[in-house]
Amino acid sequence: MIQRELDELLNRMTQEEKLAQVFQLAACCYEDDFEPDFTGPMREIEVNDTLRKTAGTVIGALEPEEMLKLQKLCASGPNRIPALFMLDVIHGFRTIFPIPLGLACSWDPELMGRTCRIAAKEARASGIHATFAPMVDLVRDSRWGRVMESTGEDPYLNAEFAKAAVKGFQGRGVGEKDSLASCVKHFAAYGAVESGREYNTTDMSRGMLRDVYLDSYRAAVDAGCRLVMTAFNIVERVPATCNKWLLDTVLRKEWGFDGVVITDWNSMNELIAHSVAEDGGEAAQKALEAGVDIDMMSGHYLFDLGRRIEENSSLQPLLDQAVMRILKLKNEMGLFEEPTRGTDPELAGRLILCEEHRATALEAAHKSMVLLKNEKVLPLKAGCKVTIAGTMAGQRNLLGGWSFMGNPEDGISLIEALGSAGADLFIPESDFTDIEEVCRLAEKSEVTVLACGEPVEETAEANSKTCLRLKDRDLALLRALKKQGSKVVLLVLAGRALVLSDAEPLCDAVLQAWFPGTEAGRAIADVLFGAAQPEGKLTISFPREEGQLPLYYNSFRTGRPQLPEKKEEIYVSHYIDCPNEPLYPFGFGLSYTSYAYSDLKLSAKKVHPEETLRVSVKVKNTGERAGREIVQMYLCDPCGSVVRPVKQLRGYTSLELCPGEEKEAVFIITEEDLMFWDNEECRRVEPGRFIVMAGPDSERLMKDEFVYAV
Ligand code: GLC
Repeated sequence: MIQRELDELLNRMTQEEKLAQVFQLAACCYEDDFEPDFTGPMREIEVNDTLRKTAGTVIGALEPEEMLKLQKLCASGPNRIPALFMLDVIHGFRTIFPIPLGLACSWDPELMGRTCRIAAKEARASGIHATFAPMVDLVRDSRWGRVMESTGEDPYLNAEFAKAAVKGFQGRGVGEKDSLASCVKHFAAYGAVESGREYNTTDMSRGMLRDVYLDSYRAAVDAGCRLVMTAFNIVERVPATCNKWLLDTVLRKEWGFDGVVITDWNSMNELIAHSVAEDGGEAAQKALEAGVDIDMMSGHYLFDLGRRIEENSSLQPLLDQAVMRILKLKNEMGLFEEPTRGTDPELAGRLILCEEHRATALEAAHKSMVLLKNEKVLPLKAGCKVTIAGTMAGQRNLLGGWSFMGNPEDGISLIEALGSAGADLFIPESDFTDIEEVCRLAEKSEVTVLACGEPVEETAEANSKTCLRLKDRDLALLRALKKQGSKVVLLVLAGRALVLSDAEPLCDAVLQAWFPGTEAGRAIADVLFGAAQPEGKLTISFPREEGQLPLYYNSFRTGRPQLPEKKEEIYVSHYIDCPNEPLYPFGFGLSYTSYAYSDLKLSAKKVHPEETLRVSVKVKNTGERAGREIVQMYLCDPCGSVVRPVKQLRGYTSLELCPGEEKEAVFIITEEDLMFWDNEECRRVEPGRFIVMAGPDSERLMKDEFVYAV
């Protein structure tokens, strides 16, 4: 349709149709035996056929054949407006990829883009039009269960992954039949929940918001995402769902976003609990005035907004604006002409879990794994006698959270995979954590693979934890195995940076495998036996103790920094019972080969506005095996008008190196890389010294300096 036709359509719509258009219904409401068991006012919803035919959007999915019928039903309302079908396609639809926190450790946005493209093809053919992804919240605290959905603690890397995910999901454009409209979330700063506690409050300076937390949402908007989801938390004491500065001033006016804003589940109703709305009507009005277009599952737009508009007709244009934004998105996707456009059960059947998709899932799983320790025990040799044990050894679901369309049975189990990879397996008959039996088997084997971590059910939404240590049974096994001198490979399956400091000294190798997805078993076996090399590097700091959290590499210096050469000083910023440093730092990861860094060079010692600076560092593969090394470049502004982080990632590159081969990693620093947000909300660069650093992670860095002069 052209705009004039959309305008005419809006004018034909009744108020009831408009209120239904800005309302989202759950797909299960279309099932005959539907019984509402939602959180919030939707518990009382009376679903009738009119609502089914006029609801603007639908959340959830049914079988592809059912979706075809549903889409035809939803387009049979008075004005034949098709519904938009939306789902959380976070790290795969049916072919499941590693959790985003794992995939991020590949430092490979192109790979992220490919996984999102595959997810989009499988989901769109199955009847889904839009995904509530990517989740780009920056996270510095692994107590928060949703850290698994994020790509970690760094603004620069998160922005790169956000852009790649949006492009991957949307493909050549949302008008294409295999495109999935992307909804970036949770706007904004949901990852900063205090104490890592789910649904908790957040509070930070506007400078911190601008300088650290908003980058990734901006990147998604600049990449063309068509929807934005409001976060559950407050921003500057105003809930994101009714925060006009956030949703209008920043998102629309500054960033030029012209898509659709949707709330998170029931977050409009939560304005009442937040104590900024007396009732549903006030909540609806505040959200509408702030710029929310779709109410996800609170019902207040449907049940209460109409009365508010009767009392205050100035709200009508805002409702019309919201409706028009939704109609435009549907029009962009070609759904008016073809309500079932892209839905193709036969194609879905061919695409889902096809060999090509599985191969990408395997590749992504390989590249997500991070080798944190290896005392010459990995890779294992074919035929190696291996005892498998630990609380996660028998866990069949290694898909990770937010993978409800996936099926763990789609991939072979860890034990099957280890057997296929050539292990001479010793498997406890009774219980994978029976110390006596495991130790007895370990006596007869060359190595014990202790699969530990946390079950999927303890991760993702509503799964914050205060204790991040390994399970007591795993630690007890580890101590017993250490005592008898067994070699142990700690295989960590988790959705966050667990506290591994008790375990690290007791084992010979640590492989952080996250939740690798559909091809988890095969990928873990490949890495353990060396068919694939662990090349990932952490995108979140691993704490020694929960008490260190939040913990992140790009921290502000303090007035009393603890200096490495003066660790005995007490009147400095430190703990008396734990070092300040993480157990494993941001950017850290080992491999089956080794690398030497040398010869950090700058193309100049002084740069002026508009000029760029070339930074290079040599990297040599000093091991016996080819590998891919992720080289990182950081900057520090040692003195400015506001306190600046001790370092910030400003570039990275991967070098493929054969044994003995040396290459140069090159980075080009621009004025943009030197910029920051000051306290007057201006983004600028200040003249003076800058320190440039390069190395394999955020701690082992070569340094040099240059001056930026105006
Ligand atoms: C949840 C999550 C959000 C998700 C939405 C729909 O509460 O916060 O990330 O997209 O509801 O499932």
